[in-house]
Amino acid sequence: MAADGVAQAGHRSGGEDVLRRLRTGTAEEHEDVERTLDLLDPDLARDRLAAVLERMHGFWLAAEAGLDAWAGAHPGDAAAVDWPRRRRAALFAGDLRSLDAAPAAAGPSLPPLAGTDEALGRLYVLEGSTLGGTFIDRHLASLPHLAGVRVRAFSPYGGETGAMWAAFRRVTRERVAAGGSPGTMVDSARATFRALATWCRPVAPVPA
Ligand code: HEM
Repeated sequence: MAADGVAQAGHRSGGEDVLRRLRTGTAEEHEDVERTLDLLDPDLARDRLAAVLERMHGFWLAAEAGLDAWAGAHPGDAAAVDWPRRRRAALFAGDLRSLDAAPAAAGPSLPPLAGTDEALGRLYVLEGSTLGGTFIDRHLASLPHLAGVRVRAFSPYGGETGAMWAAFRRVTRERVAAGGSPGTMVDSARATFRALATWCRPVAPVPA
């Protein structure tokens, strides 16, 4: 019943809510990334954590370069979503340093972002990862063999995680209300997730 109410409210404001479309439209891809990273493994070894962080660092470098180019072309849209505050490649590099591991030397080649709808789709993936990040942090903190390892990249905003996510959602909905294309956002988010899974495949767990 409650879900119907939400869906109807979405219809009244011009079609199914874009955030709902982003979540359902990328659910399969999210699962693939989760499986590939396998960060909730109870036996997650320090070396494997470093290998995963190195892949993620490379991905964030590439994704942020694309978003920087978009921000240069659309400074007003980038300011609306508070883009500079959302950069986090440096946190991955810092986490790798604290694990005595080298930073990523390269990242994947991602398609350039044609406009703000594409950028918001890509940002959806990067920003949403802070939600799962809370669970990942809690898990890492529970592993005795990783005691003393401090990983910051999964929850870059600390106590502001909810507020940063809420602000992202608001800007995305406003964009759609002003004529942005939810379909373009979903396509971009799906492509971003797929590129991440492909890039991280080399560190996927070996099936037993
Ligand atoms: C092993 C790794 C991961 C786990 C266990 C995980 C887990 C989760 C969980 C539990 C949520 C829901 C949180 C909530 O609703 O409060 C979530 C949301 C999300 N995660 Fe992940 N995640 C992982 C990795 C990632 C990565 C690497 C990305 C992208 C780079 C990502 C993108 C997202 C997105 C976009 C959402 C928001 C879904 C929505 O509500 O629209 N996740 N994740």
